[in-house]
Amino acid sequence: MAVVHFSFYFILMILLMSTELCSASFSSPVCNPKYPKTAVPICKDDIDKMQFALNLEHLEADFFLWGALGYGLDRVAPDLAMGGPSPIGAEKANLDRLTRNIIKEFGYEEVGHLRVLKRTVGGFPRPLLNLSSGNFARVFDQAFGLELVPPFDPYRNSLNYMLASYVIPYVGLVAYVGTNPNINGYQTKRLLAGLLGVEAGQDAVIRTYLYERAALEVAPYKKTVAEFTSRISDLRNRLANCGIKDEGIKVPPQLGAENKTSTNVLSANYDSISYSRTPAEVLKIVYGTGNEHIPGGFFPKGANGTIARGFLKQPRESN
Ligand SMILES: [Fe+2]
Repeated sequence: MAVVHFSFYFILMILLMSTELCSASFSSPVCNPKYPKTAVPICKDDIDKMQFALNLEHLEADFFLWGALGYGLDRVAPDLAMGGPSPIGAEKANLDRLTRNIIKEFGYEEVGHLRVLKRTVGGFPRPLLNLSSGNFARVFDQAFGLELVPPFDPYRNSLNYMLASYVIPYVGLVAYVGTNPNINGYQTKRLLAGLLGVEAGQDAVIRTYLYERAALEVAPYKKTVAEFTSRISDLRNRLANCGIKDEGIKVPPQLGAENKTSTNVLSANYDSISYSRTPAEVLKIVYGTGNEHIPGGFFPKGANGTIARGFLKQPRESN
């Protein structure tokens, strides 16, 4: 019995020591970066730019949560909606197990993104979102330049849902890349990099899923998955009207990595770095109007925050 007691206390001591070692190492400069003495955690000018991202994070959160769980932010984290209206037309998607698991994880990741953004730079209420199948159908009709019959339904099955998902995180990714050079606080930079990392990861998972099915026809349209992605990317390029910053999962070699591949699992520029977009470009795309002054699409009443509301106050000149 004495031996058992000794072993128990010995193991306990080792565990306590290792905990102490861990906490000691976490507080050391090796694990905690040192920021320049003159640096500030959050610059005043960073706040509106970082808050702008909340619009896309809200869009993603409710789309993914609803798709996987059949309910959204109002049930999962109602405080984060800050009294904003519930989304229009969100539905639980008819997903297989693998896809549901991926999308459920994405949905909860978006909850974290909303929480950390609002905690760090403050925020605004969730804008009105249109997540209805009718709205997605309009996006896909616009992408193909014709009326798909029957209308494209993002909630119909896993493939349709992943094609609909192709529409969203990529815009967040390029928006973060665009915001990065314009912020200065070390805490906001750290936050942006962390958000960008996960946003890019989500986009890569979606693109790889679709790449595996590139030659598959999307029933009943007799158009391949690869064509769907190219059409959506082309549409976003047209709406933003700033050249090519978006590419499908298959491209002509001159757009592939080092001009050598037609495989395009990741969308990136000539140097294989991510494209970037300005807030105005992002709004042109998510409004579906090609005009940051004219709301519509996923944001029927416009996006929220100083930057987006600023565009809405300006005259609606055609771009
Ligand atoms: Fe996100």
